[in-house]
Formats: sequence, C-alpha cells, structure tokens
Amino acid sequence: MSLPEFPVGFDQPILVLAACHRSIEEHIKALNRLQKSLVRRGLGEEVRAAVRGIIKFFLEVVPIHHADEELELFPRMLRAAEAMSDRASAFDLSSHLMVEHRDIEEVWERVHQNLLDLLSGEANDLDMPLCREFSRRYCDHIRREEELLFPLAARLLSDSDWRSLGTAMALRRGLPAPSFPHAA
Ligand SMILES: [Fe+2]
Repeated sequence: MSLPEFPVGFDQPILVLAACHRSIEEHIKALNRLQKSLVRRGLGEEVRAAVRGIIKFFLEVVPIHHADEELELFPRMLRAAEAMSDRASAFDLSSHLMVEHRDIEEVWERVHQNLLDLLSGEANDLDMPLCREFSRRYCDHIRREEELLFPLAARLLSDSDWRSLGTAMALRRGLPAPSFPHAA
C-alpha cells in the first residue's frame, strides 16, 4: 500500500483532486477487505502492514486533500462567483462539503482507534458497522463533489484561478510550482 502517485500533474489540479478521490476509494476498499484477511490469516505481518498502510494514508494524505479543497478550491470558487445565484450555490455547496469533511474526520478518528487497538491486541476484530459507515459517508461525499463541486468549479474558475490553484496544491506538498505550457 502506498501513498498516491498522481498520474497527472498539478497543471491540471482538478485531475489531481479526482486522482486523490480514486486513491481514497482504493484505501477504503482495502479497509473493507481487512476483516476477511484477519479471519483467514490472523494478525500476521502482512495484515499488520496493510493496517499500517491504511493508517498512514488517512493520516497523511487526506488532511492535505481536504486542505486543497477548503483552503484553495472553495475560496477561489466563492471569489469567482459574480452572479448572486452562483454565489449562493458556491456558498451552500462549499459549506455543506466542509461539514461533511468534519463528519468524515470524526468517523475516521473512531476507525483509527479501532485499527490501533487491533495492532496493540486490544481488539481482535474490525468494527465492521463503523467501517461501513466510514465507507458510505466518504463514497457519498466523493460522488457529491464530483457531480456538483467539480462542474461548478469548472464553470466558475478562470485560467488564472486554475493556475494559482495548481501552484498552491504543489507547494502544499513541497513540490515545485508546475509550468503551464498553455498559459497566456
Ligand atoms: Fe475531495
């Protein structure tokens, strides 16, 4: 299990956000497979490594992804919305998605504790209802972002917004700013 290797560059920030969603979905699937592995093989080194990989991903990658959206994408979208109806949609949607981020993070805290208890031997099983809740909330959230947020952002943001968004996302990861070959 590894951190996401983005097949796309930060010169296309929306694709980076979508790639991060695919990676989150992959790690959720891995979480949901864990219980079967536990039953079949017990808590051997292979299952421990899978647990540690899932913990590392959700602790390191997801906060950066949420920050990309909350600190970079949402504010640019709100600034770009000139028409009153667009402003209201952008505000309502970004507020709703931020609340969902906090809810997902709260459920993750409980999943995280369950995974730590598994590693320490304090728990023998995954809390499957909790994992299913985490999975459902996150997958629904991703679907909402891709069906509502991405199209709204695509309509509202200017080329210059996309360039500054891609640059901010790269810098957040300590990477050099991307070049924008088609920039005016
Ligand atoms: Fe997202």
